[in-house]
Amino acid sequence: MQQGLRSEAVNPPYEQRWRNSLPAPKHGADRGVFCDFCHSIRSIANRQPFNHNYMPDAGPGRNKKRADLEFPWSPYHGTQVSELHEGADLCGICHNEKNPFGVWVKATQIEWSDTVYARRDISCQWCHMPPRAGKPAKMGRERPWNHAHWFGGGFTGFVEGAAAVTIHFHEDTVPPGSIVPLEITVGDIATGHLFPTGATEERDVWLRVAVYDAQGNELQHLPVPPNPQDPNDRYFITSNVREAYPSHSDYGPALARDALPEGDRIYQDVFLDSKGKVTFGQWYAVRIVGNRLKPGETRRERYTWNVPARQAGTEVCLRATLWYRRMADSHAEHLGIDKRPHLLVSPDEKRIQIVGNP
Ligand code: HEC
Ligand code: HEC
Ligand code: HEC
Repeated sequence: MQQGLRSEAVNPPYEQRWRNSLPAPKHGADRGVFCDFCHSIRSIANRQPFNHNYMPDAGPGRNKKRADLEFPWSPYHGTQVSELHEGADLCGICHNEKNPFGVWVKATQIEWSDTVYARRDISCQWCHMPPRAGKPAKMGRERPWNHAHWFGGGFTGFVEGAAAVTIHFHEDTVPPGSIVPLEITVGDIATGHLFPTGATEERDVWLRVAVYDAQGNELQHLPVPPNPQDPNDRYFITSNVREAYPSHSDYGPALARDALPEGDRIYQDVFLDSKGKVTFGQWYAVRIVGNRLKPGETRRERYTWNVPARQAGTEVCLRATLWYRRMADSHAEHLGIDKRPHLLVSPDEKRIQIVGNP
């Protein structure tokens, strides 16, 4: 497989090289994982769940559905109690992925296994299939405990509040022309794995810090200072340098890496191909550098606010906002799909009087 990927003898036009051309628009059960799929999984082929190593039990004459319902019964199909369906391993079958270069390009279940949630036996289902009361099926009986199949992920209702931003600055006034050091923290990370997770070559979380006037106009952006101690620091500061490739860098052209205002702290995984270039093609990644947020940690960011002398006598609002999005606008544009919305995860703000006379 590895050979097949790199030593393509034919050289189709660029468009065909990266586009996964699907015939007609997909519909119905074609769209994703369907009921029967999960409920026919009997076991996992290896100790570690990854790369779809499920062992199904389905086919003619085999119609047993599995989940973790107590005393299951159905008039239509067989039922079996399955502890596999109660735990994170089931999800890891598809949410852990190792590419042909041996790189973990998706690792949500592996990330989870290193958190307090795993240690307390709080599985993925607890958050993504929250327990609820009711009938699991129309003909079934009322039960106090079954599971919503919502699978909430990277959209507003789920991402809002997934972490909290705090400005640590306790003065109400600052002198004009002064240099004010600020600490901003990102903590209370409420995901059961790193944040962001999933298709991390795409997912981004970033922190914007700026000063606004009373009308909400941005007066001054506070860029995050570079950290010379970290050789990968430049990947963690938003940049629009054209250095991100939709596929392998040999296949060009490059896109704007983050497609965001520059100079903000960004928490992301950057996938690097065999030439050391940034790629959105996870199947070409030979190395990943990342700084994603971990449940239980508090990330501290330091800023310097050079208070302009001309703002003397005004009240300003210092605002820090944490954002999430599913993919860079530059990549969406390249793929010809709608740009994904920027979702506000958490804001914090502080009104500050700049002393003196205007
Ligand atoms: C991605 C995998 C997945 C898909 C797709 C899925 N389920 Fe489930 N389902 C589960 C898991 C996991 C549980 C058990 C959760 C637990 O016990 O913590 C479950 C539980 C159930 C139960 C038992 C009652 C309960 O809620 O615990 C029923 C009935 C059920 N699913 C029906 C369906 C139907 C119908 C569909 C399609 C509309 C479907 N499932 C799609 C994973 C899936
Ligand atoms: C058979 C493979 C498979 C299994 C098993 C599976 N998933 Fe998924 N999951 C997928 C795929 C594929 C997608 C992307 C679907 C899409 O975008 O249409 C997905 C998407 C998701 C999303 C994101 C939804 C969004 O739009 O943001 C969540 C959350 C999720 N799965 C949680 C789980 C949990 C929890 C389990 C275990 C109970 C699980 N999955 C088991 C394949 C699977
Ligand atoms: C404590 C609650 C919690 C637990 C436990 C948890 N998650 Fe999540 N998960 C979240 C939240 C909140 C988000 C939305 C923020 C984000 O994308 O990280 C999320 C997002 C996701 C996404 C969407 C990523 C995307 O690309 O859109 C997937 C997939 C996912 N989780 C799978 C899992 C799997 C698999 C497990 C278990 C191994 C799990 N989650 C355990 C809270 C949880």
